Amino acid sequence: MSETQNVKQVSPSAIAQAAKLLRAGALVSFATETVYGLGADATNDVAVASIFEAKGRPSFNPLIVHVPDLEAAQKLVEFNPLALKIATKFWPGPLTMVLPRRDKSPISRLASAGLDTLAIRIPGNNSARELLQACQCPVAAPSANPSGQISPTTAAHVARGLGGKVSLILDDGPCDIGVESTVIAVTSTSITLLRPGGITADDLHRFTNIAISPAKEDGKITSPGMLLSHYAPSCSVRLNASDANSNEAFIGFGPGSETFETATLSRAGDLKEATANLFALLHELDQKNYVSIAIAPIPMEGLGIAINDRLKRAAAPRN
Ligand code: TXA
Ligand code: MG
Repeated sequence: MSETQNVKQVSPSAIAQAAKLLRAGALVSFATETVYGLGADATNDVAVASIFEAKGRPSFNPLIVHVPDLEAAQKLVEFNPLALKIATKFWPGPLTMVLPRRDKSPISRLASAGLDTLAIRIPGNNSARELLQACQCPVAAPSANPSGQISPTTAAHVARGLGGKVSLILDDGPCDIGVESTVIAVTSTSITLLRPGGITADDLHRFTNIAISPAKEDGKITSPGMLLSHYAPSCSVRLNASDANSNEAFIGFGPGSETFETATLSRAGDLKEATANLFALLHELDQKNYVSIAIAPIPMEGLGIAINDRLKRAAAPRN
């Protein structure tokens, strides 16, 4: 496609510009061998919140974090020997592994939707790895399309769907594979297929000689973002609260609860700021031994829909 203001053919200067934008917290779309990604600095809560805002996602699914090489991956997650063996064979490539976050992982809690695991991959496109190398930060990137629409496999698709919402689209031609990466969870003795994709269960079985377990519920493949209560604080959660009971933490939103709140998602009532704070705040309060956490009502609009979706899961009965 012809170059417009925010679409640039891949070149050393375009990659340098994209890297600078990512470091500054902006959204950049880039090509991978699977689909075009909508990337943001995975260590920056507000930048990650912008991804959900741009896609209009009704819920906060955990995102895949992209890194340029195995060394960078090892700084973020813990590899067991099986995961390391798979990484050596299939990376760079269309495979994502879900592994335990390292204790001091700098990755935004929002990017991993509050989970203690992280989905990570090294993309196949040279331009993608050059960008990841240049920006020197891990990059969270779902497919670069509005939620519910078809994944983009050209820069023109991205421009059509999200053009006004990304700072730069790096055009590296059509994607070779055209469907998202295979997602697997890997323990030292098991492989669970969370999402089928470019690398098949057969490929993985043949290489590892381990049976690949399907992640099935009601016949459908599920990912944790879809489960009713997949991340919840250890104490109970009370929604749409207007005040705090004793031994209860109160999370405010907007002005008016300053005198009794424990913390606020956003004093200004800004939904993007609230999104950026949500998981980090739940984690923080969870460690303080409250009997429960009460949360002020969050408006059901824009990112508020995803915040309410997540809060509903956090408050759902546990089994
Ligand atoms: O091909 C791809 O993977 C594209 C390109 C841009 O790299 N990216 C992509 O990202 O599809 P995303 O964020 O849309 O895919 C996330 C997938 C979802 O199925 C999600 O549930 C799963 O990965 N996932 C992420 N973190 C997870 C975790 N901690 N545990 C289990 N599944 C996780
Ligand atoms: Mg997608």
